[in-house]
Amino acid sequence: MCGIVAYVGPRSCTSLLYQGLRKLEYRGYDSAGLSVLVDGQIEVVRAVGNMDSLEQELKGNGHAEARLGLGHTRWATHGRPSTENAHPHSDCSGKISIVLNGIIENYAGLRKELARQGHQFASETDAEVVAHLIEKHYHGDLLEAVRLTYADIAGHFAFCAIHSSHPEMIAGARKECPLLIGVGDGEIFVASAIPAFLSETRDVVIVGDEELFVATPGDVQILDLEKKRLEREITRVNWDVDAAEKGGYETFMRKEIFEQPDALVDTIAGRLPGGGQVVLEEMLIPDEVLAGIDKVYIVACGTSYHAGMVGRYVLENWARVAVELDIASEFRYREPVLSPATLVVGISQSGETADTLAAMRQARRMDARVLAITNIMGSQATRDANGVIYTRAGLEIGVAATKTHLAQIAAIHLLALKLAQVKGALDVNEIEGIASELKAVPALLRQYLKNESAAHEIAKRYYQQPFFLYLGRGVGLPVCLEGALKLKEISYIPTEAYAAGEMKHGPIALLDKGSPVVVVATDGHVYEKVVSNIEEVRARDAAVIAVATEGNEGIRAYSDDVMYVPATSEMLSPLVSVVPLQLLAYHIAQLKGCNVDQPRNLAKTVTVE
Ligand code: G6P
Repeated sequence: MCGIVAYVGPRSCTSLLYQGLRKLEYRGYDSAGLSVLVDGQIEVVRAVGNMDSLEQELKGNGHAEARLGLGHTRWATHGRPSTENAHPHSDCSGKISIVLNGIIENYAGLRKELARQGHQFASETDAEVVAHLIEKHYHGDLLEAVRLTYADIAGHFAFCAIHSSHPEMIAGARKECPLLIGVGDGEIFVASAIPAFLSETRDVVIVGDEELFVATPGDVQILDLEKKRLEREITRVNWDVDAAEKGGYETFMRKEIFEQPDALVDTIAGRLPGGGQVVLEEMLIPDEVLAGIDKVYIVACGTSYHAGMVGRYVLENWARVAVELDIASEFRYREPVLSPATLVVGISQSGETADTLAAMRQARRMDARVLAITNIMGSQATRDANGVIYTRAGLEIGVAATKTHLAQIAAIHLLALKLAQVKGALDVNEIEGIASELKAVPALLRQYLKNESAAHEIAKRYYQQPFFLYLGRGVGLPVCLEGALKLKEISYIPTEAYAAGEMKHGPIALLDKGSPVVVVATDGHVYEKVVSNIEEVRARDAAVIAVATEGNEGIRAYSDDVMYVPATSEMLSPLVSVVPLQLLAYHIAQLKGCNVDQPRNLAKTVTVE
C-alpha cells in the first residue's frame, strides 16, 4: 500500500509533490509527509491523517526554494498511524531521506543489528531500516548504497532515496510494488502511479521488477542489480487529466457509478466485431490452447472476487467448462489441482493486489495458463500472466470499486464468449445474439441512471437500521454479496449476504420485525425459488426491498419496496442489478455523513498480504 512521489528538476517542488500525493491519496491516508532539500539541509514535514492535515502543516512553510524532494501517503502496516511513523524517514545524520511503499519482511533482524551498530531509530516502522541501511552503505555513491540496501532487504517494496550531498539526484529500487518515472523537460518525477504526475508530463518509463534507478534533472537510468544500464523506452500515456477529477459530482464514487455505461462501452469496444468473432488482442493464448482448456479457476479478492463469481455461472452456462473459484488469499496456501489444461484467471482492478499476484504466480509454477483481468496497463498482474483482458473503465479513485466491477463482469462475459466460440459450445447465431444484447446494456443503464430516485427514497427510509440482510440465487448471489459489501464498506452498517436458499440454515434467526432484507429477484430460471424465500422473510415480519426486472408488477405484492432494473437476459443481469445496490449503499452512507470516497481502514490497492 502507500503512495510515493519524488521530484528533481528546476522547479520549486513542494507544491508539485503535494499535488502528486493528492492524486495518490486513494492508496492510503493514515498519514502523509514530504522531505525537501533546502540550503543543503533536508527538511521534513509530516502529519497524521489525510492530505488535509499535511496541507495545514505546510501552511506558511512552502520551502519555495526546494528543487529536490520526496513525498508519501501512508496506509499503516508496521506501526500505528502517528507522526513518528509517517514517511519520509531519515537516517541518524538527517542527511538521507527515504519513502517506501510495501513491506520489508526481514526488518526486525535488520533493525536489531543496526541498533547494535549504534543506529538510532525514531519510528516503529519497517521502512526506517532502509534509511539506516543506506547510511551504513553510503561512501559517496548514493546509487551503490541503494543497491547494497536492496541486497539486504527481503519483501516486496518500492523506495526512493535522496541525500543532502546529492542535490540533483533521486535513487531507488523496486521489487514487485509499482514504480514509474515521469520524464519532463529537464525534470524527473517518480511515483507509485501515473496520476501523480499526469498534469506535468505524459512521458513515462516503467521501473521493472528487481531493478534500480537513478534520476537527475535531465536523465533517468534504469539499471539491473549489478548496475548494468538497461534500455527502456518512454511510453506516452493518453489519459485525460480530467478523468482524475470529480467532474461536477460531489464524490468520486458517485461520478464513477455514473460512468459505468461508458466503462462498459469501452470494455466491449472492438471485441465483438460480428460473425461470431470474439477479439481479445492481449489475451495471447492461442485458440487451440483455449480449446483444450478443461477447467477455469478464478482467483481474486474483494469486489473482484464477486465479479469472478459471476464468471462461474456465465462460463458454465455459455462455454460448458468446469469452473472453480477461490479467494486469492486462500488459494495461494492451498494445494490446488492444476494442469496445463487449466486456465487460471486472476481478476484485479489494480493488478497489484499481493494475494492475487501470489495466487497467479503459484498457478504459473504449476504450469497452468494464467490470464489477468485488470484495469491497469503495465501493472504487475499483466507481467505475471500469459495474457491479459484489460477492462477499460478508466481511472477509479473511489476506494469502493464500482465502474471497474462492472467492467470486470463484462470482461468475463467476453472471456466466456471466447471460450464458447473456440470450444464450439455456442454457434455463431447464439454468440451474435448475446453480443447484441451485451452491446445494448450501456444504453439501458444510461437511461436507468437518469432516475435514481427509488434508491434514494429507500435509503431515506432505512438508513438508521442497524443491520441489513442481502439474499440472492444464481447470478443474483454475487450481486447480493457485492451489494452487501458496498454497504458495509462505505456506511459501516453490518451486513450479511447469503444464498437465498441457505437463509433458513442460520441467518433467518437474525430477522426481526422491520429488519431490512434486500433480495435480488430479477427474472431468471430461479425467480420462483427467490419468491419462496421472500415469503419466508415476510413470515418473520422483516421488510423486503426487492431488486426486480422492469414490468414485474407482481413482485409488489411480496415486497415493501422495489428497485426496478432494465430487462436483460439472465447471464447479463448482474450488469444492471448491481447498480441499484451501489446507489442504495451510496445514499445510505451519504445520509449517515460518511466519507464514501475514503472509508475508514480501507485502501484502494492492497499490496500487502
Ligand atoms: C481492496 C479494495 C477493493 C478491491 C480489493 C481487490 O480491498 O478496497 O475495492 O475490490 O482491494 O482489489 P483489486 O485491485 O485486486 O481488484
